[in-house]
Amino acid sequence: MSLAGKRILLVISGGIAAYKSLDLIRRLRERGAQVRPVMTAGAREFVTPLAVGALSSGHVYTDLFSREDEQDVGHIRLARDCDLIIVAPATADLMAKMANGLAEDLASTVLLATDRPVLVAPAMNPKMWSHAATRRNVETLRRDGLSFVGPNAGEMAEGGEAGLGRMAEPLEIVAAAEDLLDGGRKPLAGRRAVVTSGPTHEPIDPVRYIANRSSGRQGHAIAAALAKLGADVTLVSGPVTLPDPRGVKVIKVERAEEMLAAVLGALPADIAVMVAAVADWRVATENTEKIKKTPGEGPPPLMLAENPDILKTIGHHAQRPKVVVGFAAETQDVEDNGRVKLRKKGADLIVANDVSPETGIMGGTRNSVKLITAAGIEEWPDLSKDEVAGRLAGWIAERLS
Ligand SMILES: Cc1cc2nc3c(=O)[nH]c(=O)nc-3n(C[C@H](O)[C@H](O)[C@H](O)COP(=O)(O)O)c2cc1C
Repeated sequence: MSLAGKRILLVISGGIAAYKSLDLIRRLRERGAQVRPVMTAGAREFVTPLAVGALSSGHVYTDLFSREDEQDVGHIRLARDCDLIIVAPATADLMAKMANGLAEDLASTVLLATDRPVLVAPAMNPKMWSHAATRRNVETLRRDGLSFVGPNAGEMAEGGEAGLGRMAEPLEIVAAAEDLLDGGRKPLAGRRAVVTSGPTHEPIDPVRYIANRSSGRQGHAIAAALAKLGADVTLVSGPVTLPDPRGVKVIKVERAEEMLAAVLGALPADIAVMVAAVADWRVATENTEKIKKTPGEGPPPLMLAENPDILKTIGHHAQRPKVVVGFAAETQDVEDNGRVKLRKKGADLIVANDVSPETGIMGGTRNSVKLITAAGIEEWPDLSKDEVAGRLAGWIAERLS
């Protein structure tokens, strides 16, 4: 119950993403927070106070000039009797009011009268978000000390348009709220983690190699998410074009054999998350000179040799980390292959995903995974790779506690 006893004032303004604030209320309450909602007139066009009140189990504040509300808590107490104010969704309109100190309805008045931290989750059409006026307002609010979560890139709820403007997912908002309230929860402080990421390159000769389509996005995001929870992370990365995640020790390798050596060098560790797409085979006899194309001789034969199985090695190692997680990229029978892998590799969890080309997962920014453990299978919705990383880091922290 990471938000146990925390009092959160949730300001809901009039954007289409207001429907997500219903889920946000649930998520906040699941973590022990008390949620007091304030809705703008615009918000009430999208979700009803009845639904918001049913989920928050209390009164929903809507009017500045309501005698009943004023007698109940009053707008000044509403603004101060909380540990955090979350504005989700935050419309362009409400942010403009906030940036300019307007107080013309209950939401804007409370936001002007508060001395509590404020977390803003903007949601709007990409053109509204990139408009010079909104940019100025956001800049002003940042300078005023307000915190932001999102917006994310993606398709808008009303369909058609894509770009930056989608409200952060409820769980991201919850994580940002936890960070603000706790100064960052660090449940993995004092824990060591080793994460692999990216592809491996197995040389054929000095200029050619065997590779795969892994981008490293998921592995890098997991390393960052574990570090954010306080873990001391070593990231062993194959060749990728991504920046090194902040606060993580990065060891860059090319081949599977180098990756294994670096992972073993990072032991002992409490956590191992093997995300890299390690080549199963390497070229048996490496050519130190570039293989020449000789007319009439045809292509040279490529003899392959098996690479070490890094996950299996770690899963059965004398210094096996307490939590061993493997990734299974499959194009068929995802669950069955994941179950077999769990057993054979000595892992606690296999994160299985279908990387058939039509899913766009390999090399893309989103992921749709199934968690396979001895206890069963849990399916997560389609999420960004950062969201998968955040949730997985949370799963690992819970497992270790
Ligand atoms: C269907 C529809 C969807 C809207 N979605 C958004 C939105 O996502 N973000 C936004 O800033 N404004 C959106 N608007 C415009 C706001 O509702 C409008 O600016 C309103 O005055 C906001 O009031 P409030 O900020 O007091 O809640 C939308 C309007 C309509 C009609």
